[in-house]
Amino acid sequence: MFPRDFAWGAATAAYQIEGGWQAGGKGPSIWDTFCLEKGRVFGDQNGDVACNSYELWEKDLECIRQLGLTHYRFSLSWSRLLPDGTTQHVNQKGVQYYNKVINDLVACNVSPMVTLYHFDLPQALQDQGGWKSPSIANLFDSYAKFCFQTFGDRVKLWITINEPYVCAKLGHEDGIHAPGLKEPGTAAYLVGHNMLRAHAMAWHSYNHDYRKEQKGWVSLAVNSDWAEPLNTHCKEDVAATERYLAFTLGWFTWPVFVTGDYPEIMRSAIEAQSKKLGFNGGPRLPSFSKDEPTVLGTADFFALNYYTSRKVKKGESCGNILCMKSDRDAGDVLDPSWPICGVSWLAVVPDGLRKLLKYIKETFDNPAVYITENGFSQVGTLQIEDDQRSKFYKDTLLEVAKAIQEDEVNVCGYFAWSLMDNFEWSDGYSVRFGLYHVDFNDGKLSRTMYQSGREYAKIILKHKLDQ
Ligand code: GAL
Repeated sequence: MFPRDFAWGAATAAYQIEGGWQAGGKGPSIWDTFCLEKGRVFGDQNGDVACNSYELWEKDLECIRQLGLTHYRFSLSWSRLLPDGTTQHVNQKGVQYYNKVINDLVACNVSPMVTLYHFDLPQALQDQGGWKSPSIANLFDSYAKFCFQTFGDRVKLWITINEPYVCAKLGHEDGIHAPGLKEPGTAAYLVGHNMLRAHAMAWHSYNHDYRKEQKGWVSLAVNSDWAEPLNTHCKEDVAATERYLAFTLGWFTWPVFVTGDYPEIMRSAIEAQSKKLGFNGGPRLPSFSKDEPTVLGTADFFALNYYTSRKVKKGESCGNILCMKSDRDAGDVLDPSWPICGVSWLAVVPDGLRKLLKYIKETFDNPAVYITENGFSQVGTLQIEDDQRSKFYKDTLLEVAKAIQEDEVNVCGYFAWSLMDNFEWSDGYSVRFGLYHVDFNDGKLSRTMYQSGREYAKIILKHKLDQ
């Protein structure tokens, strides 16, 4: 039912699980700083301890083994390795920590997929302008080269940046993620641009200096909803859907996979809005310089984080007319028939994933696709026997199987988000995405497999779904 060498994985990210925020010479990151201010995160919680994977890694490994995963995706904390963000100061304890994680995985026959950046910029670099500053691209490239050099003998799957859309928009326009900037209409485009430049430089470094020897693959993980017009007969809704997809998926994939530049619909929508507002601060969406290595072609596979689907309709009044939502002029709504039982933004639409996979195949010339994140959360009363989430995994994997068999999409693997409950950004510990429950009230942070974890393990073992 699934290809023989299909990758069965689960994913995590450093700030969400590691804790040890000041342990072993780690420097602060923007999430450490962000959480210090009251009112930003649910219950003013933070990732100071989280799942304490910094000390309890072996417990995580036990979970990975019990599930029977073939792959484990995790991220490196940049400021644990390079406390001030630069390669001038390497924290050997950080190197040792990740070496142990990687060696243990390899020893258990589990392939690591390593994310270099999952939302946690070293604070020292934020103090120099962070992702808004053009010089960040070179700093990221040096960090990436350091990681390829140090870990690339064992790591064959790399993600440079996780969800540039979320970093750019939630961190620099909405201000609900670190660094908490609210500069609508401008900063997100600049940040997204520098992330693409940084990603491309790192890919070229790998391609030039490491690929031959290490033989790995490098990509960036993009998040996208599937989107459909609210009214399929309404031309304006259809156009709004195109804009919606251009501003989410297209923003980062057109430059890398299609043209080397942003989608035309996106550029023209932003320009039209600037004109309408009499904005005279220059083009808000930057251009790629011919003097820098090209962004086009800088992905060895397509890494997709999928969570939900949306119905799209033309326009939606937005308080701030200088913001991305106004630029794209597309409102999104949830279909009332889609169940929402976890976080408010997540409607469960398994066949949306199949449609998105087919769209990716057709739009990006049939790339190798890894689903690098997908999951469903529980909120409120805890259920270890989480049958709804078990059903979610079965339903979703059935759609993935159909995408592979019927639509012939080249899906190489699937990573559940997440291995275990963890610090869910501004929702703190109130939202649980784990295949394992983590008891945050018990000093031991015990991990207990959910029913959904058992279900996933069963599918992995059989390599197929029971009909
Ligand atoms: C993604 C993110 C993960 C996780 C997940 C669930 O956007 O990459 O870190 O939090 O969403 O909300």
